[in-house]
Amino acid sequence: MISSLFRPRSVTDNGGPGGEASGGNDMGEWAMKASSTSLDGKRVVVIGGASGIGYGVAAAALDEGARVVVASSREANVQAAAERLGGEASGSVVDVSDEASVARFFEQLGPFDHLAFTAGDWGMSRGAPARELDLTAAQAAFTVRFWGALAVVKHGCRTIAEDGSITLTGGMLAHRPMKGAPLSTVVTGAIEHLTRALAVDLAPVRVNAVCPGLVLTDRTRLIPEERRRAMTARLPVSRVAEPAEAAQAYLYLMRGGYTTGQVLRVDGGGSLV
Ligand SMILES: NC(=O)c1ccc[n+]([C@@H]2O[C@H](COP(=O)([O-])OP(=O)(O)OC[C@H]3O[C@@H](n4cnc5c(N)ncnc54)[C@H](OP(=O)(O)O)[C@@H]3O)[C@@H](O)[C@H]2O)c1
Repeated sequence: MISSLFRPRSVTDNGGPGGEASGGNDMGEWAMKASSTSLDGKRVVVIGGASGIGYGVAAAALDEGARVVVASSREANVQAAAERLGGEASGSVVDVSDEASVARFFEQLGPFDHLAFTAGDWGMSRGAPARELDLTAAQAAFTVRFWGALAVVKHGCRTIAEDGSITLTGGMLAHRPMKGAPLSTVVTGAIEHLTRALAVDLAPVRVNAVCPGLVLTDRTRLIPEERRRAMTARLPVSRVAEPAEAAQAYLYLMRGGYTTGQVLRVDGGGSLV
């Protein structure tokens, strides 16, 4: 009988070298398999995957052979994204600001391997200086990005594979506060602390976060090009990122079986200068 540490725990692995299903005892080989670095055949859920960074994560995971579920709150967005992704992609509606909707989503979803959370609304994206803050609106800024992430973790951790991973989304404002927008720093910073806390609380499931700089999505295209150039001119990589570039960080954190509690910055070196 093998130790539970090395038991197959992924959704896709039900037996293997040294496992109970094969009756063997090659622990080394089995340990290697248990921390597989491939997403091939894995079930990957992207909440916020209907557009932007999440869509990039879904497309990249599909390219690596994963079965992908994209989810967001508006059915038309979900449907369009799933159709555009094609292949092994499917879509499902979930409103992360409604815990009952999140609970239903995971009940219907069943077991899965990896979760990326990129859902975000932009109501308070710049916010306001502290002295002018509407405190009710300020609280609402946490609804999707923080409380939504926590609701997803609470319900998703019941059916995620033990060797699976959760990757949340922060933002560079956590490290580079902007005058007039204190709340953005607080929301993104809270995600980083949540990540560390969950990495301990949910172990052996791994929990990490990606901290993007400016990524070119439909939303950030609304920022005039001249302003985007000004925002990125000082960076060592002096341009905005493509969603596909940010997506690689999520994929690394899914595959990296020994990485947990980490925040991976994809910021063109912005935190250095
Ligand atoms: N783009 C950047 O430069 C950048 C930089 C740093 C951090 N970020 C953060 O990264 C995240 C993704 O950014 P993005 O540019 O990819 O934004 P995006 O294109 O607007 O994507 C956000 C996604 O979240 C979904 N969503 C919104 N409210 C939801 C809810 N209540 N329940 C479920 N899904 C919901 C949206 O779809 P529905 O409308 O269909 O729900 C959408 O698919 C955001 O949190 C953003 O703040 C972005």
